Amino acid sequence: MARPSGPVWAVVVAAGSGRRFGGPKQFSPLGGRLVVEWSVAAARSVADKVVVVVPEGVGPRPEGSFGADLVVPGGPTRSASVRQGLSEVPADVPVVVVHDAVRPLARPRLFHDVVAAVGGEVAGALCGVPVVDTVKRVVGSGALVTVAGTLDRAELVAVQTPQAFRTDVLRRAHGTSGEATDDAALVEALGATVRVVPGDPDNVKVTTPADLVRAELLLAAGPEVLG
Ligand code: C5P
Repeated sequence: MARPSGPVWAVVVAAGSGRRFGGPKQFSPLGGRLVVEWSVAAARSVADKVVVVVPEGVGPRPEGSFGADLVVPGGPTRSASVRQGLSEVPADVPVVVVHDAVRPLARPRLFHDVVAAVGGEVAGALCGVPVVDTVKRVVGSGALVTVAGTLDRAELVAVQTPQAFRTDVLRRAHGTSGEATDDAALVEALGATVRVVPGDPDNVKVTTPADLVRAELLLAAGPEVLG
């Protein structure tokens, strides 16, 4: 099913505080650029305009806007930051792509695949990779954690960004000030169809200093590894 015609906009969320990393990792240098600049450039592979959402007081900088067309301040949660970016997207834009700034190595193929998947009954699309570990549900905390069940990993995917949506549906999903760790969860809650396209294990989420080292190594390995 052909996707709705018209421009595509991207919202790159970069307003996290990076508690696990010890600072905002999206502003760390990586291969001669900042992590967020790689993510904005990746979003440009499919988007006509890119909005980057940054922590209060960060931008726009005199030397640029991280490569984005618009720089807006974020909110206290990821979902609030997406809403801030979404509020800049004009009413006549049919499809919007949301991408985490901390995934600097997302390939153009992922952006194209999620956007191409949206249309007809499909209100949203995300990239997912098979789960290789066995996943268990647990209860308790601290020293007393016990297993409550084992999930069937054949039915699971680990979800990445980019994620693409019909803009009207994403606005509706965010209309109730919902909170979730990704946008698809809010769209799913409306009962809308979200498609899964193959993700990429090298689409690293820079969460720890070791992830940044891995991203550096993948970049240095060049296009044969990072196509
Ligand atoms: O919290 P998590 O690590 O899943 O964050 C994913 C992305 O959301 C990161 O790029 C982060 O900068 C962004 N974020 C945001 N505003 C927040 C929290 C997270 O833009 N308040």
